[in-house]
Amino acid sequence: MLPQLTFMHKLIITVLVLFSVHLVFSQSYTVNSPAGTISVSISNTSTLTYQVNYKGKSVIKSSQLAFKLTKPEATLANFEITKVDSLVHDDTWTPVWGEMNKIRNHYKELSLTLADKSQSGITLKVGFRVFDDGIGFRYEFPSQTNKYIIVGDELTQFSLADDHKTFWIPGDYDTNEYLYNTTRLSEIDAVTAANKEPDIAVKSVIGPDAVQTPLLMKTADGLYINIHEAALINYPAMHLNLDKPTLTFQSHLVPDAIGNKAYLENPSRTPWRTIIISDNATEVLASKIILNLNEPTSYTTTDWIKPQKFVGMWWEMHVGKATWELSSGKHGANTANIKHYIDFASQHKFDGVLVEGWNVGWEDWFGNWKEDVFDFVTAYPDYDLKELTAYSKQKGVQLIMHHETSGSAFNYERWMDKAFQLMNTYNMSTVKTGYVGKIIPRGEHHDSQWMINHYQRVAEKAAAYKIMVASHESVRPTGLHRTFPNWMASEAARGSEFNNAPALGITPEHTTILPFTRLMGGPMDFTPGLFCFKLNQFEPTRTTEVRTTLAKQLALYVTIYSPLQMVADLPENYEKHTDALQFIIDVPVDWADTRILEAEPGDYLTIARKAKNKNDWYLGAITDENSRVLNLSFDFLDAGKKYEAIIYRDGEQAHWKTKPEAYVIEKKSVNKKTKLKINLAAGGGCAISIREVK
Ligand code: NOJ
Ligand code: CA
Repeated sequence: MLPQLTFMHKLIITVLVLFSVHLVFSQSYTVNSPAGTISVSISNTSTLTYQVNYKGKSVIKSSQLAFKLTKPEATLANFEITKVDSLVHDDTWTPVWGEMNKIRNHYKELSLTLADKSQSGITLKVGFRVFDDGIGFRYEFPSQTNKYIIVGDELTQFSLADDHKTFWIPGDYDTNEYLYNTTRLSEIDAVTAANKEPDIAVKSVIGPDAVQTPLLMKTADGLYINIHEAALINYPAMHLNLDKPTLTFQSHLVPDAIGNKAYLENPSRTPWRTIIISDNATEVLASKIILNLNEPTSYTTTDWIKPQKFVGMWWEMHVGKATWELSSGKHGANTANIKHYIDFASQHKFDGVLVEGWNVGWEDWFGNWKEDVFDFVTAYPDYDLKELTAYSKQKGVQLIMHHETSGSAFNYERWMDKAFQLMNTYNMSTVKTGYVGKIIPRGEHHDSQWMINHYQRVAEKAAAYKIMVASHESVRPTGLHRTFPNWMASEAARGSEFNNAPALGITPEHTTILPFTRLMGGPMDFTPGLFCFKLNQFEPTRTTEVRTTLAKQLALYVTIYSPLQMVADLPENYEKHTDALQFIIDVPVDWADTRILEAEPGDYLTIARKAKNKNDWYLGAITDENSRVLNLSFDFLDAGKKYEAIIYRDGEQAHWKTKPEAYVIEKKSVNKKTKLKINLAAGGGCAISIREVK
């Protein structure tokens, strides 16, 4: 498709043309995506602006690109264009693990070099990559006389064309563990929403009009728009502040303890700002823009990075059967109890056993100002690491390490080498980290530049010891698992543990929104697999409950992608439903292919995934609080092949509230032409394993 030649002076970007001109530059440029679905127009008049159209419809109206620096003090908003570069890129790459074997990275790029006109002497670049399913753009500060700069704020705007339906959580410097709100843009009220959430201990809400990314919007005429960022490195996370009269979001970077946003040493660059756009909700979920905008890994070997399923005595503590601390008299991490979990994992061929509360310090770990609550190497006296290592080895299972930092990231950095050496000594290759509480160094936030660098240091240090990481209470992911494939998952959203939170808990619709929001950035350690729904098993006065059916818990292993999946419930709860447990035993955590069959944020989602190196498929379908008929076509299967499907579906009376454990398991022969109607209960779901029959 050729760009329009409406203005004589307009520079033309065409397919497969690479140019770099040093003449007098035009003040406006248009870049069309490879198939022409999306176009970005950049204009440099009094300020520098961009706008985005999808199939001719305005998605982002003219929006400013600017910066406020505190060193040197300057507002970068008026520029002279000094250079223009463009290129077309098309390649296909193979992730170490993930939702598919091959990922195509196809875009057109335009990069403008800009000289600030305010006499700061600052030079910067802005680069746009335009894909058929969205765009990414970022700023770069090339090498220049001002080697060190301090960002006061980034003033990037996203001006929306209408008052869209929006799925949002409050903008917050410290936590992303909120329930999603669904309102019009003009109805966003982040402070009121945050105040409804007494179960979140540490909050730093930005203000009434601030929200977090990944942010999903749906327009009146059915366009889905997702705003997020990719490759968040050496920079704070970006939240968004809405100017309601103009329906314009402006970037709001997380500050450090003294109010600065980012300290950059040039050459430097910001993360990519991403906008994924489609008129089909399934294509938003299938978009690989965020991964594509991240750098390939530089790890020389990756064969030590292994997707896995694990059990743990974690839920015992959350439901009050045991405690992390020894002094209570019901310490969960004792040698005998962990042997029981090792036996359970071994029997069902799960890879690991997570042990929390194994190390001294839990008597007084939360909410204090101590820097050195934990040393990550000293076990409680009733926990015999040596004996358990030998026992787990004999049973073909690995222990999974837990490093709760109690927010003292600084202390963790002091101990990291010793802690990872201990893991190497005891044959442990996966660690779950956590950052509960206020961050130390004092005044830092979970999402500030210092902490962003901390999470990266942890990933890289762990890689040096060939250790895989799942982080909790960390920043929401931005596709960095391409670059650091051992940082396999993060929590960074409201996970399954909130089923046990007294106030709002997890609503049935939550898991239909997560894929469109939090999961866009990368895998989540959600910890599905709960088979016991009233959480008063050990403390009869508890009123908390899991708001799904059992079949939906199975389906979550497919709909929430993670290369690390916990099998979260207690062995005694699984023993009651070993037939249903079989799906969790069978379902892979690494895939050759993924097909999003149908999806609507807040309502429902059906995904089919193909196992690696096999012709087997697994399907997960979930619904919100409404029951629904799933009209399933198996046309994703290979023609001419026969398959046996094992269907785990909601029973006739199933309902998340009244009969969550009603399920039916049935076998059916299926092939590419099969069509089935399956009822999903309120808060329900369906999981299917589909194996090729030779
Ligand atoms: C919060 C984590 O999300 C949870 O999984 C963990 O058990 C506790 N912190 C204790 O570290
Ligand atoms: Ca709904």
